[in-house]
Amino acid sequence: MPHRKTSVAAAALLGLSLLAACGSGDAPESAAAPEAGAEEVILANGMTPKEQIDARQAHLKNYGKAFKTISDQLKSSDPDMAAIQTAAANLVSESEGMDTWFPEGSGPDSGVKTDALPAIWENPGDFSQQVANFQTEAAQLSEATKTDDVDAIKVAFGETGKTCKSCHETYRADD
Ligand code: HEC
Repeated sequence: MPHRKTSVAAAALLGLSLLAACGSGDAPESAAAPEAGAEEVILANGMTPKEQIDARQAHLKNYGKAFKTISDQLKSSDPDMAAIQTAAANLVSESEGMDTWFPEGSGPDSGVKTDALPAIWENPGDFSQQVANFQTEAAQLSEATKTDDVDAIKVAFGETGKTCKSCHETYRADD
């Protein structure tokens, strides 16, 4: 089918020339701009809103994983203490720098999908307090997991869970 072949080739050529047109920036300073078509919003920390939101969501997913591991083990009649200890340590290390994950411009107004509510930027003092409360409880949980005192671990786990819930109630959509 020679005719069809020709039009496919023509389409491919057209695609190539479009790519070429996009690739050749007119201004020299645009050479470093990575995402063609994306709005060039750069946050104060040098990240794009999408990079920042992706990064914090990845950390938060890991909170969820660590939390589920601990929860599952604490329900077991023979909890895997090593798994609990590792998960609690991960929760602490994942949460390092959490107070820097929500810079101005990384909320829903950025146009990037996020469950972070505008309330975060309306109440920065309270939000930071919630971060600090969580980090304190997570550190205590991690300390508790270094003992074999399952009851103490359960208490610390419950207190940590309250800080997740408290923050989500005010600052996270869909909860
Ligand atoms: C200081 C506030 C705060 C604390 C504390 C907090 N979170 Fe969140 N969490 C958020 C916000 C805000 C989002 C939405 C982030 C986004 O979409 O940009 C979120 C999102 C999440 C997500 C979804 C991530 C995704 O996009 O897939 C999980 C899972 C999660 N949190 C688990 C936890 C767990 C478990 C804890 C406690 C161990 C916790 N969070 C503590 C504020 C908090």
